[in-house]
Amino acid sequence: MKFFVDTAEIDAIAELNDLGMVDGVTTNPSLIKKSGRDILEVTKEICDLVSGPVSAEVVATDADAMIAEGRKLVEIAENIAVKVPLTWDGLKACKVLSGEGHMVNVTLCFSANQALLAAKAGATFISPFIGRLDDIALDGMELIEDIRTIYDNYGFETEVLAASIRSANHIQDCARVGADVITAPPAVIKSLANHPLTDKGLAAFLADIEAANIKIL
Ligand code: G3P
Repeated sequence: MKFFVDTAEIDAIAELNDLGMVDGVTTNPSLIKKSGRDILEVTKEICDLVSGPVSAEVVATDADAMIAEGRKLVEIAENIAVKVPLTWDGLKACKVLSGEGHMVNVTLCFSANQALLAAKAGATFISPFIGRLDDIALDGMELIEDIRTIYDNYGFETEVLAASIRSANHIQDCARVGADVITAPPAVIKSLANHPLTDKGLAAFLADIEAANIKIL
C-alpha cells in the first residue's frame, strides 16, 4: 500500500520523505490556505522534494476553466496529478486531462457510483473521504470496500486513494480491505509507530540498563 502525505507543510513532508515513507503528496485548497503559501510556489517545492505523484487541486468549477487550470498545474512538474472535484464538470475535465496523458485525482467522492463514473472518465486516482462519512454516522470503510470490489469486478485501473483519514485504525482497515493508497496527515502516519506496550517495554529495559550500567559505546 502506498503512503501519500496529506499536507502542504514542507518540513513535515521532508521528515517523512527522509525515512522513505512518502510515495506521494496530496494537497487541497484548505491545506494550501493552512500553509499560508502561494499555491504554485509551494506545489513546486513539494514536487522538487518528492518523486511520486503530487496532487494539486483546481479552483474553478466549470469544466473548461478546470481544464485550463489543470494544464497550468501540470507545467509545474512531471509528477503533478491534477485534482478535480467529483462533479459532472469535474468528470469532463478528468476525461480531457487524462486523455492528454496527465494524472488526474478525482476528489470529494462519497459513493461507489461516483467512483464508477470517475474510473470510466479515466481517473488515475479516486479519493473517497472516509472521515467525513464517519462524521455523519455513515461507514467510510464500507465505501472503500465497495469501490475495491467494483473496480476489481471490471478491471478498472483507477487507484483507490483513501482520503480523509483521521486515525491509525483507518490506515490499518484500508490496508486490510485493499486500498491502493492512503493519504493521511503527517501526525496520523507517525502515530502508526505508537503502542503502549512498546513504551512500557522500553521503560523496563531502560531501568535495567541504568541498574546494570550497560554501555555499548
Ligand atoms: O485528502 C482529503 C482530506 O484532506 C480531507 O480530510 O480530515 O478534512 O476530512 P478531512
